[in-house]
Amino acid sequence: LPDLPRRRFLISTGALLGLSALGGLTTPGRARADETPHWRPAVRFSPERDWLNDPNGLVFFDGEYHLFGQHNPYGDQWGNMSWLHAVSTDLVRWEQLPVALEPDELGAIYSGSAVVDHHDTSGFFGGKPGLVAIYTSAGETQQQCIAHSADRGRTWTKHAGNPVIPNPGVEDFRDPKVFWHAPTGRWVLLVAAGDRIGIYGSANLREWEQLSEFGAEHGSHGGVWECPDLFELPVDGDPGRTRWVLIVSINPGGPAGGSATQYFTGDFDGTAFTSDGPADEVRWVDRGADFYAPQSFSDVSDGRRLWLGWTSNWDYAEAIPTSPWRGMMSTPRELGLVPAGDGVALVQRPVAELSAVRANRRAWRGSLADGTGAEFRGSAVDVVATFRIGTASVVGVDVFAGPGGRTRVGYDAAAGELFVDRTDAGGTRVSEKFPACHTTPLIVDEGVLDLRVVADRSCVEVFAADGRAVMTDLVFPDPGSDRIAPFAAGGRAEVEVEVFDLTP
Ligand code: FRU
Repeated sequence: LPDLPRRRFLISTGALLGLSALGGLTTPGRARADETPHWRPAVRFSPERDWLNDPNGLVFFDGEYHLFGQHNPYGDQWGNMSWLHAVSTDLVRWEQLPVALEPDELGAIYSGSAVVDHHDTSGFFGGKPGLVAIYTSAGETQQQCIAHSADRGRTWTKHAGNPVIPNPGVEDFRDPKVFWHAPTGRWVLLVAAGDRIGIYGSANLREWEQLSEFGAEHGSHGGVWECPDLFELPVDGDPGRTRWVLIVSINPGGPAGGSATQYFTGDFDGTAFTSDGPADEVRWVDRGADFYAPQSFSDVSDGRRLWLGWTSNWDYAEAIPTSPWRGMMSTPRELGLVPAGDGVALVQRPVAELSAVRANRRAWRGSLADGTGAEFRGSAVDVVATFRIGTASVVGVDVFAGPGGRTRVGYDAAAGELFVDRTDAGGTRVSEKFPACHTTPLIVDEGVLDLRVVADRSCVEVFAADGRAVMTDLVFPDPGSDRIAPFAAGGRAEVEVEVFDLTP
């Protein structure tokens, strides 16, 4: 079994025992000289201060999107795991609220999900709708617990009957994700159990029975399995043709090193998931280094399936040089399926709400060859480009460029690969594993590449070929490095490019 998760979970038990002492000794709100406001993202959530990892409890209720997340309220390293809480009405501007769930006698509060109990199946709400959070208590063992809120998530009551799913004798048993399965009229819960997924059912969110298990024979087993999710999506937007998508994060063992998230497409009959693909097929949702533990939203009433992930990697998360916060989320993305080969593939695009905060449009159209082209400036930008690749061997866009380095987002036509190269992305190495060029296979149609780069102060999110190839990477550019330039190398290419500032 991998070292890192185990080391983290051992620290957790120690931190828990000393928790009350620690709370008294540390002063939240302390000021530090080395703060890094220039790396504070403009259009994605980051906590005001201190540590953040996985998104939890994503739910839309009563006009608000709720984001909870793994948080240490007492420091900028992982520990004292609690649920941070933030709300938004547009998925772009977030308001951070007081911590929602804090450790208790059952343990620290690890990842989990939240649902709207519309018909009070749980009996917690006197017949009205309310929010139920389902999370892992991590103490002596990892067990699944619930808490309920009748005031739009502002205050929470932990259920007296916790745990609702006791530990079955598996050390890593965590990250419950719950959804309502209408055809069978029951709640379904997925939980990571070692290196497979347990699937449970319940009528009332309080009593659960195991229905099935998935994964012993499937996918990548290079690390511990974490943060599962399961949802149904239309293929090409056609509600008459749907497939189910099962998500599993894995650490380590990702294609860019460390943490990454794999997916399977298939069928879910209300009891068990069957994968369409061969057992040894491994598919990743994002081939950058920094998109982990994504969770999809419950209850988005307009039918969209949205998700966001933690923009980091356990290989170096605790060495990220931002201050006074450490950790941020990705921009929310809309998910879809498109036909691919004999089956279907997942596509991701930034939510439409992001386009509403675009300003200062600049555009250029022309021919690119080595050393010629246009340039723009900006450090929180949305870049939309279409390349006709022509005789060029590589095309792309440099962002965060300046005397201190650059981040190169490109497409290598000969290799058939999209890449994000952060080997020269700024002065900060973060860790030995940080400087690297990450790639994902991509064949473009008729020599035309569409590329969207959301470059936001200390992160690039890249969507190519209408969301078929996606990469997320942290970068820590020097404050003055804000040049953006489309480029072609090894020949000539045509480009149409638009650059927008992102100004929430
Ligand atoms: C994923 C994870 C989860 C766990 C949480 C603890 O990054 O390891 O499995 O619940 O982080 O903070």
